[in-house]
This record gives sequence, C-alpha cells and structure tokens, in this order.
Amino acid sequence: MANEQIDFSKHEILLSSSEIKLRVEELGRQISADYRDRELHLVGVLNGAFIFLADLVRQIDIPCQICFLQASSYKDQKLSSGEVTLMHNLDLSGKEVLVVEDIFDTGLTLKYIFEDLQQQKPKSLEACALLSKQIPDKEAVEVKYIGFEIEDRFVVGYGLDFAEKYREIPHIACLD
Ligand code: IMP
Repeated sequence: MANEQIDFSKHEILLSSSEIKLRVEELGRQISADYRDRELHLVGVLNGAFIFLADLVRQIDIPCQICFLQASSYKDQKLSSGEVTLMHNLDLSGKEVLVVEDIFDTGLTLKYIFEDLQQQKPKSLEACALLSKQIPDKEAVEVKYIGFEIEDRFVVGYGLDFAEKYREIPHIACLD
C-alpha cells in the first residue's frame, strides 16, 4: 500500500480545508486570550504538526516563540509501535510552554513529551492537538486545546501521513 497512489475521490473527506481553517482561527483566538501578557513558547511536534503549527501561529495575535521537537512512534504502519523516540535540544526552563501536536491518539507520544519536558521545569506546560481520536484506553494526559474529536479511523492530510505520504493534502481524509 505504501507505494500505491491513492485516489482521494474514493476516500471520505473527514474535515475540509475550510472547516479546519475556521477551527484553527478559533483556537488561535482562545490561545491568544489565555496567554495574553505571558511569554508563549510553542513547541511543534515534527513531523505531523508542521502545517497545523504554521497556520495556528498566524492566528495568534500575541508575541510568541516557536521551536520544534521530533517524535516518532509509527514506523510506516497504521498501528502505534508502542515506543516513542524524541529528539530535541530545547531549553524550556521557566518558560510558558504549549506543545502543538497533530493528533492525540493513544496519548503515548504526548505522555513521553510531557515527562521529558517536565524535567526542564517549565513555568507551565500545556498541549494543543488538532485532532483527538475517540478511543477507549487513552493515556491520562490532559490536552487543554483540541481542534476536533474524531472517531477511531486512520486519517491523512494537513500534515498527517501514512508512511511519509499524503502530508501535503489540504484536507483531512480517511484512509480506511
Ligand atoms: P499517539 O502516541 O498514539 O497519541 O499517536 C500520536 C502520533 O501518532 C501522532 O503524532 C501521529 O504522528 C501518529 N498518528 C496517530 N493516529 C494517526 C492517524 O490516524 N494518521 C496519521 N498519523 C497518526
């Protein structure tokens, strides 16, 4: 499947680019209000959050700093490998940190990120995910900002991939 071209006319569009745009604008307004007069540090989780973060920061009307970490748990497959690898050289000590993630699925990735970043003693640590999958056994991670709750289906587009493909699609489509 990884080498096949997918005909997206045959796949359900779960979220159109205009729906995503409206919700990202709302999230930007909410985050701007919550962090007004605070020094916001956004930490994008690569690779999946790169488009979401780029759109989100342009809807935030307070000064902010932007950095990235790399996380990987899916190894060219649709099921989580159960292991998360993190790569970064961030120093977030004393900072107001908002982690920006593409999708909150099992929560394993965010749990690892929170445990890792907490060691740096940030002033505050919250998370924002564009999507949250409704699955029964999620890790106990609190995600303050969620764009959309979706059912348990494998989605691609708007930064999300399957085996590194389909990130460039402007909407979110179901692969299954
Ligand atoms: P979690 O650790 O199970 O919460 O998964 C988080 C990561 O898995 C996300 O950042 C995505 O990279 C990937 N992921 C989970 N579900 C999907 C999906 O439906 N499509 C594409 N990537 C996904």
